Amino acid sequence: MKTIPLPNFVEFLCSQRPSDFRGDKVDTYLSQFRIEEDSVLPFVYFREETYGRNLIFKNEHFELLTLTWLPNQRTPIHDHAEQRCWMLVQTGVLTFRNYEPIRKESDALTPCGNCETLAAGDAVYIDDGIAIHSISNASKRPAVSLHLYAGPIPKCRIYDEGLKKFIWKELQYFTNPDFLATKGCSPRATP
Ligand SMILES: [Fe+2]
Repeated sequence: MKTIPLPNFVEFLCSQRPSDFRGDKVDTYLSQFRIEEDSVLPFVYFREETYGRNLIFKNEHFELLTLTWLPNQRTPIHDHAEQRCWMLVQTGVLTFRNYEPIRKESDALTPCGNCETLAAGDAVYIDDGIAIHSISNASKRPAVSLHLYAGPIPKCRIYDEGLKKFIWKELQYFTNPDFLATKGCSPRATP
């Protein structure tokens, strides 16, 4: 598998038509290329309080993020707002736990399949027709992953373990384009 710098991946994504994201072009690309680790570093910012969401690039068709994971950090169980989602583990090891798709609000949470542990170089795809999931860093080392959403996901449903039901949650970035610009990072999202 060939390794390419992150800007090449962004360039490829920007050249796709909206219909391409619904086909297999991204899968084909990701089966051929890995993203060079050093080129992702400018977008890697860890948070002590929670896993980090760092925006790399966003337009009306897709958004690309770096997610950062300290040991024991995890997402809530969540859906992907009817969008397509590709995840690439860049560094470390992450655990993916799938649950049956949510058909209606009253649906119970039902695990499906086994937990999947992915390491650097692995890629996985999910959408709401396949499953909802949570991601965790169950290892003792930090981890970094790339997440491609087509289209962008400004909010999604998460399972509130206290309320025992799904609620809508607005998603935020820990770093944003303005912050990254101060670090001289490129590529960056258009305003
Ligand atoms: Fe997800």
